[in-house]
Amino acid sequence: MSEQITERKGEQPPEVLRLVDSQLRREWEEYQASGLQELIGGMHLCLVLDALERTGVAERLRRGPAHPDQLLQGLDAEIGGNLLRYLELKGAVASEEGRYRLTARGQLLMSPISLAQLGFYVAAYGPVISETARLLSGELLYGRDVRRDTGALGRHSATMFHRFHTPTVLKALESVGTRVLLDLGCGGGQLLIDACTLDGQLQGIGIDIAEDAIAYARRRAEEAGVSDRIQFFVADAFAPQSWPAACAGADTICAVGMLHEPFRRGEDAVVEILDLYAGLLRGGTRRFILGEPELRYDDREHDSDFYLAHVLTAQGFPRSWEDWLPVIGRSRLSCRRLLMRPGAGQRLAFFELASGDGEAQA
Ligand SMILES: C[S@@+](CC[C@H](N)C(=O)[O-])C[C@H]1O[C@@H](n2cnc3c(N)ncnc32)[C@H](O)[C@@H]1O
Repeated sequence: MSEQITERKGEQPPEVLRLVDSQLRREWEEYQASGLQELIGGMHLCLVLDALERTGVAERLRRGPAHPDQLLQGLDAEIGGNLLRYLELKGAVASEEGRYRLTARGQLLMSPISLAQLGFYVAAYGPVISETARLLSGELLYGRDVRRDTGALGRHSATMFHRFHTPTVLKALESVGTRVLLDLGCGGGQLLIDACTLDGQLQGIGIDIAEDAIAYARRRAEEAGVSDRIQFFVADAFAPQSWPAACAGADTICAVGMLHEPFRRGEDAVVEILDLYAGLLRGGTRRFILGEPELRYDDREHDSDFYLAHVLTAQGFPRSWEDWLPVIGRSRLSCRRLLMRPGAGQRLAFFELASGDGEAQA
């Protein structure tokens, strides 16, 4: 096109000067060698994938090839259309006769499990991690000015939990004979929903400090048809004296991914809380199932990401299961069994605890 214009005007093509500066080339090569190019691309792709999950586009793409207007219902058609082209550049979708479909890479990236894991970091912890500079400078304080998105945390943890951890907890419950299960820090309530769906006689009680997680859990229980057997309450799991009266009827208690929080006040704080729970077991509850994520500081399986999320949210640090045993050993609870499912899902260890003095045998 430009050549035709040039011809018509009778002008010579422009002179092209390719400047060579070895110093500038070296600096650019160093940038390329840093790997940042891939990291920046990965960061943006993560943000876009999370947006596709939140807006329902990922789910529509999973259903099969579709035209942009089907995929982008209710969304900005221009931005959406351009995002689909961006995803094509990234190899996540391919287009044929105006319809987009997931490529093999796109199917892996947009599976419910991948998007839940991504949502854990981007949607739930992103509001905090993106404020690292102002948290570092002291301009913002976690808990006062900035918070993780507990609704997103509940939702995405629920997907992961259902797939990878419910079966392990149910295995732990097999030998206990539970009729009323109390889940402390229940988040999106998935464990109770799964357990009550599988056992038509089981009753569940879930408590969590986050109102939006409890609202989500109630909605999910309704959808699953088990809301008549599960009660959800907003309450502080570390203050049993403030719990609703219904909790006293529980015969098994579990707490998954919550008890590491008091580690920020030191080990004694965790031992104190374990002792509080030991007191509840004497009241008839037979087992306490403690599920805790592992942090091994070896940068495998998201260790550094998990660490960062805990640093910036002023939480205590999870630790390896071996390091939990001496902490439990200092309390009035004893560990009867340890269940793990290595290599499947986020690293979690489940400790079956009973009153250490033998008063509360199953
Ligand atoms: C990592 S999430 C785990 C959620 C759920 N147990 C699961 O495994 O999917 C930790 C949960 O503990 C809740 N939590 C933290 N401190 C709490 C407290 N003091 N009382 C009740 N819940 C608390 C959080 O709101 C969050 O839902």
